[in-house]
Amino acid sequence: MALYLRLGINVDHVATVRNARGGFHPDPVRAANLAIAAGADGITAHLREDRRHITDADLDRLLHEVKAPFNLEMAATDEMLQIALAGRPHAVCLVPERREERTTEGGLDAVTGRSTLQPVVHALTEAGIRVSLFIEPAAEQIEAAAALGAPAVELHTGAYCHAAGADAGRELARIVAAAQRCDSLGLECHAGHGLTYDNVAPVAAIPTMAELNIGHFLVGEAVFVGLDASIRHMRAVMDGARAGGPVGVLGGIG
Ligand code: PXP
Repeated sequence: MALYLRLGINVDHVATVRNARGGFHPDPVRAANLAIAAGADGITAHLREDRRHITDADLDRLLHEVKAPFNLEMAATDEMLQIALAGRPHAVCLVPERREERTTEGGLDAVTGRSTLQPVVHALTEAGIRVSLFIEPAAEQIEAAAALGAPAVELHTGAYCHAAGADAGRELARIVAAAQRCDSLGLECHAGHGLTYDNVAPVAAIPTMAELNIGHFLVGEAVFVGLDASIRHMRAVMDGARAGGPVGVLGGIG
């Protein structure tokens, strides 16, 4: 039976635009509340080491002024762990972080990173915070995430979203296989990075996919149609795909 597919809205790039000038506008908390009113199920933001998107003050307000589940993306560092334990978000998604990257350019290596990740997963879980690991859609990563005791993973969809033609089909097949592996191991499966109206449908159509986290495209699209309309349209495309509607140029997922 297909799960309900949650939509999490990443508000990082509302903060990016604000930070270009400093000051308070546009406000990521206002965007988060608008996103929930438009049908999003939760809010996501990445508190980076260099605070290039949201700041600690934004995080505090997102936790207290938005009445919806909040998913904190963060690196598995002591500093971030202390912030998460103090703020108690609904969920944490552990992500890799390199200062020089423009965005999160790949998944965590849950195989070689085991000794760093284990105590962080443990501490967050003990605090009642749902942990997911942002990983590539690869069997060994999923197995490593399960061995770490994480209840969920988020599959990095960047390779799929940036590929074209047959390559996109191959990348999609990796995501489908990864979602099946998650299901067989009892892991909740999420996905995100680079999703747009044009490429989201085949991912949304995977019946065991539980959550998609989407940010950059929707904030960019909001420049043209407004955030409410961009989120409502994404929700409609996701729901159409889940209901068995057209899944876009890549065809069905087989
Ligand atoms: N999920 C995770 C873990 C991310 O780090 C990001 C941002 O890179 C997203 C989802 C959203 O990606 P995008 O902004 O490309 O939609």
